[in-house]
Amino acid sequence: MEHRLSKQNELWERAQQVLMGGGQGHKRPSAVPGYPIFATHGEGCRFFDADGHAYIDYLLAFGPITLGHNYPRVTEAVTRQAQLGTIFNIGTVLEVELAERLVRTIPSAEMVTYCSTGSEATAAAVRIARGHTGREKVIRCGYHGWLDWCRPGDKGVPAAVSALTLAVPYNHLDALTDLFKANAGEIACVMIEPSATEAPKDGYLEGVKALCEEQGAVLIMDEVKTGVRYALGGAQEYFGVTPHLSTWSKGIANGYHFAAVVGVREIMEPAADVWVAATFHGELTGCAAAMATLDEMEEQDGVRLLWQRGQRLADGLLRIMREASVEATMLGMGPMPLLRFGEGQEELSTRFYSECVRRGVYFSPGHVWFLCLSHTDEVIEETLNVARDAIAAAKA
Ligand SMILES: Cc1ncc(COP(=O)(O)O)c(C=O)c1O
Repeated sequence: MEHRLSKQNELWERAQQVLMGGGQGHKRPSAVPGYPIFATHGEGCRFFDADGHAYIDYLLAFGPITLGHNYPRVTEAVTRQAQLGTIFNIGTVLEVELAERLVRTIPSAEMVTYCSTGSEATAAAVRIARGHTGREKVIRCGYHGWLDWCRPGDKGVPAAVSALTLAVPYNHLDALTDLFKANAGEIACVMIEPSATEAPKDGYLEGVKALCEEQGAVLIMDEVKTGVRYALGGAQEYFGVTPHLSTWSKGIANGYHFAAVVGVREIMEPAADVWVAATFHGELTGCAAAMATLDEMEEQDGVRLLWQRGQRLADGLLRIMREASVEATMLGMGPMPLLRFGEGQEELSTRFYSECVRRGVYFSPGHVWFLCLSHTDEVIEETLNVARDAIAAAKA
């Protein structure tokens, strides 16, 4: 790492001595020069690195921050709850009230079970679907976490488990049809990210649902990223296609531990004897954070603002690239955009992101970015000004 990040160089040396791999993912030095890897704190749409630089944050921890870092309403709700107690492992009023609210908010939700993380929620949904159908194979489409069932072939994942998980590419209904044919009567569920870097083609999500119902499989929408951002009721509300089950985490609690599986009564009620229980399920600071986040999003008309500002960022970046004669497109949708440079422009792309981060804008290269309510119109303008300078410097 460069001199600008000298304290982080030292921290990285220490981290490698005591943390497995020094850390995972973005906690390791990036292939793109200039990226910080140690944060000290965050405020609104910015975070600060261990060398004291501030960044406009479009990583947002890969999505959990919907409102902003240390967002007063959430911080107050969590502090209040911490003073009342965080965990009892008998039921609480808040867990019931939040489940009632999720049922009101999410189109396909009639019942809820709590988890702690997105990976747990997706694993729980798969177990519920297997229990419901008596089948074992799973078709996945997207990223669904780190647990064995969705990482077939990874180091440390048993071959017997890997053999039960099949994968299809997004937006290819034919591939899904073929996989169902080749595994007739064996598929318990299809788990799909309803929209990650692409919008669904016309009729795609409807087609996936129809195939699942025809084949007796459970459709699970993984709303871990899209939930609350696309609409308060997730991508299922936005696209008007309801799954049988869906998984929620990340953005719903603005950075606190919270996750849930929600679904139709017909599947969830008989699943009462499926073991989905852990000490921290329904932990109360997470529930309080979720309530406060939903309150704020509702009162601020947050979904509309996220779409509007995401679009403003996307349009602005496209204009800047056009003016700089750089071939680029925007992928992703509204609150989760992503810039893609044209073929053969990998070096320019690396230089662009590097110049942005050195100027205080943290875009995650190659992964969708996330908008939060604290990205005001002024912040988007500031971002675009940085991007204009960054592409000029990258070309020079
Ligand atoms: C769509 C989706 N599902 C599941 C997960 C797993 O969530 P977690 O990292 O909280 O376990 C992620 C995480 O990135 C995700 O993006």
